[in-house]
Amino acid sequence: MANNKQEHAQWSSSFGFVLAAVGSAVGLGNIWKFPYMVGESGGSAFVIAYLFCIALVGFPVLVAEWLIGRRGQKNPINTFTDVAVSEGKSRSWGIVGATGILGGFLILSFYSVIGGWALNYITKIGTGSFVGQDSDTVGATFDAMLASAGTLTIWHTVFMAITALIVGIGVTRGIETTAKVLMPLLGLILFVIVGYNVVNGGFGEAVNYLFAPDMSKLTGDVMLAALGHAFFTLSIGMGIMVAYGSYLGREVNLLKTARTVVILDTVIALAAGLAIFPIIFNNGLDPAAGPGLIFVSLPIAFGSMTAGTIIGILFFLLITFAALTSSISLLEPTVEFLEERTPMSRTVSTIVASTVIWLLGIAALLSFNLWSDFTIMGNGIFDALDKITSKFLLPLTGLAGIIFFAWKMDQRTIQQELGLSNGAWQIWQVVAKFVAPIAIIVVFVTTLLG
Ligand code: TRP
Repeated sequence: MANNKQEHAQWSSSFGFVLAAVGSAVGLGNIWKFPYMVGESGGSAFVIAYLFCIALVGFPVLVAEWLIGRRGQKNPINTFTDVAVSEGKSRSWGIVGATGILGGFLILSFYSVIGGWALNYITKIGTGSFVGQDSDTVGATFDAMLASAGTLTIWHTVFMAITALIVGIGVTRGIETTAKVLMPLLGLILFVIVGYNVVNGGFGEAVNYLFAPDMSKLTGDVMLAALGHAFFTLSIGMGIMVAYGSYLGREVNLLKTARTVVILDTVIALAAGLAIFPIIFNNGLDPAAGPGLIFVSLPIAFGSMTAGTIIGILFFLLITFAALTSSISLLEPTVEFLEERTPMSRTVSTIVASTVIWLLGIAALLSFNLWSDFTIMGNGIFDALDKITSKFLLPLTGLAGIIFFAWKMDQRTIQQELGLSNGAWQIWQVVAKFVAPIAIIVVFVTTLLG
């Protein structure tokens, strides 16, 4: 494998690349995180802010990261350094790549804990724990899982081990090919649950809750949460898309590909919202229940619908799978970096990186039980890791990335590379140079002042 270090492979087709990018983007962020953030922020205000952030910030940042990656052809740090130098700019832009790698580290630690919950729920549903149960019992089952540090540790370990195994053996591309079948299946099951909700009630209320504009709830905090989530859900602001871009052939149309990824990712998140909120309202559950939201709502539906056990098992299996195609993309940049920059082999790099992340994950899961009193600026370790990454690291890294892209790189060659006519290019310039960076800055300033 040693000569792999020199030769940087390319995606065999743009389709393979789209799969990898969608695999990274679609994950727990869409199905677990999006609904509970909507619930915590009071509904439609968050959804609308999120849609704006996706279109005006997420989309251009995604294109910028791919383009930079395709120019650099290396890991994110070397890519930013090389591209900066070739544009006659400072080497310190490499720092943007470094904060990205750090972000992946921190995110994967708590991501793996939730991946573990999903794994655990496959077995719970499989053993019939929820058949015919009411919402209180389903809620109590979830609380009991959270209270058990041992259970959480076991499943977090299993999830992290699978992730490390896939990355260590280097079969991530095989996984992405499998995603071609499993992702549509996940979409299908989501729609089955949405269909169940249409019949069983609460649907209209959920649609209202998600989409009827209620701008009174649109605070600075909600804006920042929506901005952070736009980064999280598209896997941007961390360098992974820079890394994926480095495998991208010249012929791939970046704008079209970004549009596909953004639309798929958003549709799945909204479908998850429509799958979950009707059940919440129908059963008098609290939409602001936090990270446990999907685990205390969906099992109620699975417990009462026809073939609910099978559908439930499949659903949590597919979520786990979607989570794995994301978690490998969180681990890969660190491993790639260690492999290219230290004498460590791929195997050793993987073991070292995943062990450190696994330990951090243990600290995160303990905040649900044994260490629940320990807080960092008012947040438990789990919440702190989530907030530091989503609300600060990702948007700030993304901001630096888009400023570099729109203000420091030669714009004529970018216009050619994006293949934009003059009219479209004007719009693109306004968005990339002004709208996206100013939006990030304004959200930060208002939140910090507010
Ligand atoms: N986007 C993934 C999700 O929604 C999570 C993720 C994978 C991610 N890679 C990332 C988030 C890189 C930020 C940066 O579940």
